[in-house]
Amino acid sequence: MKALVLAGGSGTRLRPITHTSAKQLVPVANKPVLFYGLEAIAAAGVRELGLVVGDTHAEIEAAVGDGSAFGLRVTYLRQEAPLGLAHAVLIARDYLADDDFVMYLGDNFIVGGIDGIVERFGRDRPAAQIMLTRVGDPRQFGVAELDAEGRVVGLEEKPVTPKSDLALVGVYLFTPAIHQAVAELKPSWRGELEITDAIQWLIEEGLRVESDVITGYWKDTGNVTDMLEVNRLVLESLEARTDGRVDGASELIGRVVVEPGAVVERSRVVGPAIIGSGARILDSYVGPFTSIATDCLVSGSEIEYSIVLPRASISGVSRIEASLIGHDVEVTPAPATPRAHRLVLGDHSKVQISS
Ligand code: TTP
Repeated sequence: MKALVLAGGSGTRLRPITHTSAKQLVPVANKPVLFYGLEAIAAAGVRELGLVVGDTHAEIEAAVGDGSAFGLRVTYLRQEAPLGLAHAVLIARDYLADDDFVMYLGDNFIVGGIDGIVERFGRDRPAAQIMLTRVGDPRQFGVAELDAEGRVVGLEEKPVTPKSDLALVGVYLFTPAIHQAVAELKPSWRGELEITDAIQWLIEEGLRVESDVITGYWKDTGNVTDMLEVNRLVLESLEARTDGRVDGASELIGRVVVEPGAVVERSRVVGPAIIGSGARILDSYVGPFTSIATDCLVSGSEIEYSIVLPRASISGVSRIEASLIGHDVEVTPAPATPRAHRLVLGDHSKVQISS
């Protein structure tokens, strides 16, 4: 059994962060979202992993290396353009050879691991096994239709009138039968080779496609709202720890992690929250569900329910919430007069100003 992890794509929904960085490396509780997936795969006993990368390959390779830190042997597979999930399988054909594999979308976050489903697949070996979860509005997902025995009888990508409320989660298990399905595909209306079409092809060929309906938490971290929500969830399970320096004039309340080399002075941090190594929190309030990455500065400011990426600095600003702040960003107050906002914003930035 091998793993195929998809960490290419265009990440349009997370612009402008994705203009300069890979969305799979956006940190959740100060750890890249991709790493949670790699850990789940290693925990399921898989060792050989093909990592599909696109334009952001250098950054992903620098973060994941040869995979040995995760107990994995990683082979990088370059996809020249994000031409679809099934296209990623197509370019991985030689690497995957005749092995079964688990395909995992690198920006998906699943609580509870994949051990159970990998084990079941190894026992039953249907042509494909998919993971499903019940959602409120299935129209924005790939949706499955099941028969009375729970076998998958049809799949539709973002249907206008969904046949069920069962959405596909970004983890799939395949036997090599998928390669023939992928080879037969034509690009969809959006110009991509769709994995749902490939699985539909297997069904139409009379091959067995099984499903697991998961009840645990799952999110595709493709947009800021979902990213913040996953960050909240992971921070909820944080164990308080102070390895950095907190002065006597500061107060840490609840589950707060202060990493080694971090400094908290004259500040109040209300958990769950994490302060990365080398970060400085001075004369500030850091509220619940906030992750401050390494080497950030928060000075004379208030922030909560937010993710701040490495080396960003926030000085004299109250109050920031529900925000995703990129690497090396500087947020400062404007001079009192004239009353005006001065902005240097990257393409596709989103700013809400109260004035
Ligand atoms: P998506 O989130 O479906 O696509 P995207 O990354 O292009 O994002 P957006 O919709 O915001 O533009 O991709 C799911 C995962 O699969 C993600 O980790 C990126 C990866 N991927 C590839 O590696 N190759 C591809 O061709 C596509 C479409 C996605």
